[in-house]
Amino acid sequence: MFSFEIIKQLQTHITSLRHQRTTIGFIPTMGALHAGHAALVQQAAHEGNQTVCSIFVNPTQFNDPRDLEKYPRTPHKDIALLAKVGCDVLFIPPVAEVYPENEVINRAFDFGHLDTVMEGAFRPGHFQGVAQVVSRLLDIVQPDILYMGQKDYQQTVIVKSMLQQLDSPVRLVRCPTLREADGLAMSSRNVRLTPDFRQKAPAVYQALLQAKTLADNGHSPSEIQQIALEKITNAGLKPEYFDLVDGETLLPIARFNDSKNIVACTAVWAGDVRLIDNIFLKGG
Ligand code: PAF
Repeated sequence: MFSFEIIKQLQTHITSLRHQRTTIGFIPTMGALHAGHAALVQQAAHEGNQTVCSIFVNPTQFNDPRDLEKYPRTPHKDIALLAKVGCDVLFIPPVAEVYPENEVINRAFDFGHLDTVMEGAFRPGHFQGVAQVVSRLLDIVQPDILYMGQKDYQQTVIVKSMLQQLDSPVRLVRCPTLREADGLAMSSRNVRLTPDFRQKAPAVYQALLQAKTLADNGHSPSEIQQIALEKITNAGLKPEYFDLVDGETLLPIARFNDSKNIVACTAVWAGDVRLIDNIFLKGG
């Protein structure tokens, strides 16, 4: 695996790959990698791309400075994992390389309500920060395909909108969420769960699975929402929201017939760790 910290060196390497007429599959990450990230790299490789992965803990997407501070950082382990799963190129820049002091790198995107609902309501500014860094990384890497996980469903909708606003030729591929044996969605934040909350955390996925069963059996969205919030609370966790939304507009649905794609999305506090997860109730 080739590894670069400096944009120019990365770009020289990518240009040489382009001469070999290969497509570039890009996997942006913030490190603290797990099997879910590995699966993104493997999918990109399996689909015939040279794989480029970035590790960059982006300060502009953390609305809470304590969250940025506590974000797990495991660079040596990450590099070993990427090499093991056959990642071709790693880009691991310092902050000054992504946001140079003498350049203003801040495109403003208009996401309408997409960045004010759900995660956006609880993490103001978060998605502008995500769009800022993803657009910057796309400018640097110039990939053909961008691979992102479904666990951050709203993020994938935001990035899709960002690509449209930029009129970008990059294709976004949304990859399935990887789960632990007990159903907990894999996340870099899981390492921060105490043993007690690690035991309680699978209740999030159980609530999502129950929501799917209830939806298949004709329960209304508002009934499902209430049952799910109770289930999560009864498990000793603190839900922030459990919303049933249209898969494209992210607006809450009142009836299942109103949308082709319906996703149940939730954010839950497990102690001082915030977990998010989702499931398609219809379409997908
Ligand atoms: O999902 C993440 O890890 C981050 O939001 C991303 C897409 C790498 C941007 O920093």
